[in-house]
Amino acid sequence: MAEIRLPAERKYETELAALTKADKDARPPGWSLSPKAVETYILGADKPVGGVTITPKYVGDRSLVQVAIATLASDRALMLAGEPGTAKSWLSEHLSAAISGTSTLVVQGTAGTSEEHIKYGWNYALLLAEGPSQKALVPSPVLRAMREGRCARFEEITRTSSEIQDSLISILSEKQTSIPELNEIVTAQRGFNIIATANTRDRGVNEMSAALKRRFNFVTVPVVEDLEQEIKIVTRREAELRSDYQVGAEPPADIARMLVTLFQELRAGVTKDGKTKLKTPSAVLSTAEAISVLFNSGILAQSFGGGKVTAEDVTRSLVGAIAKENADDVKVLREYVETAAKGRPGPWKELVASARQHVKAG
Ligand SMILES: Nc1ncnc2c1ncn2[C@@H]1O[C@H](COP(=O)(O)OP(=O)(O)O)[C@@H](O)[C@H]1O
Ligand SMILES: [Mg+2]
Repeated sequence: MAEIRLPAERKYETELAALTKADKDARPPGWSLSPKAVETYILGADKPVGGVTITPKYVGDRSLVQVAIATLASDRALMLAGEPGTAKSWLSEHLSAAISGTSTLVVQGTAGTSEEHIKYGWNYALLLAEGPSQKALVPSPVLRAMREGRCARFEEITRTSSEIQDSLISILSEKQTSIPELNEIVTAQRGFNIIATANTRDRGVNEMSAALKRRFNFVTVPVVEDLEQEIKIVTRREAELRSDYQVGAEPPADIARMLVTLFQELRAGVTKDGKTKLKTPSAVLSTAEAISVLFNSGILAQSFGGGKVTAEDVTRSLVGAIAKENADDVKVLREYVETAAKGRPGPWKELVASARQHVKAG
């Protein structure tokens, strides 16, 4: 197989099959697994299940995951809200894979999202030739989820127009939608629900209508503040990317620790020891961004370096992550290096030296 990235239900097929087999608890109607088994799939298990290791997908609060799962069994839809790069989409993919056996019924919310994307469209050639028919109908992921009793995912829902958000209200409250051209009412099958994600930096959440908000339970996915936990997430996900893409060198532990420390300090605007205040960049330094910088450093090291990931590889990858939104952010990095990183041992020494070389002071 040469696909870059398999959907969760295929990548973790063996885990899901083992969980299904061992699952003795009651399943909500239309669900592939019981809530408890979904939780185990998301958070991982200490012991193998039916001989299969269940790896953690989301690393974080158990209670958050339980509330999210319980919501999906209820009459309300689930809204995962939070800063960019906090694993909202990731969690949504794994929840729908575990609950419905598919994570691919996705609507991507943009300003251009239209009714067709949440209801149905037509194959116009067929429509013109034969008139409206089931064959000519192109169901949206939401319509398919209703018919099949599965979870549909709605990414970045707050970016869509208020008209689209309004049509979602009727789908979520009545659990049905009509296709007047076919004189048909589609009634959602049990198991149908929607997992939406919303980026709190978009500021659209407050503008969502009260009527739509009421159809959702909001779960806020937090930014990871604990250093050890974020290091764990970053190194685990980087290793998975390296295996998916079959490229890159494994970064030493002290390099990963240095990178995550730098991210947490720049995010917080203060060093870990609380002694030095720092300027914060306008670019979002998310966990997802840290994963990508580390992965990138490994590719640089493997392709152009000595095969061993160095602080210089990290510096070069960092510049691209930090200079994204605002050129001044590069100055923030330069200042960080001079005020916080200078004098620290190990890979920090090389970070300072390479930043002086690669990061322009502006
Ligand atoms: N707490 C976490 N546990 C597991 N993976 C995480 C966590 N936080 C971030 N990630 C990783 O970050 C990446 C990006 O997450 P994503 O779902 O795209 O973010 P969002 O949708 O919130 O912007 C994913 O690869 C995910 O594995
Ligand atoms: Mg997302």
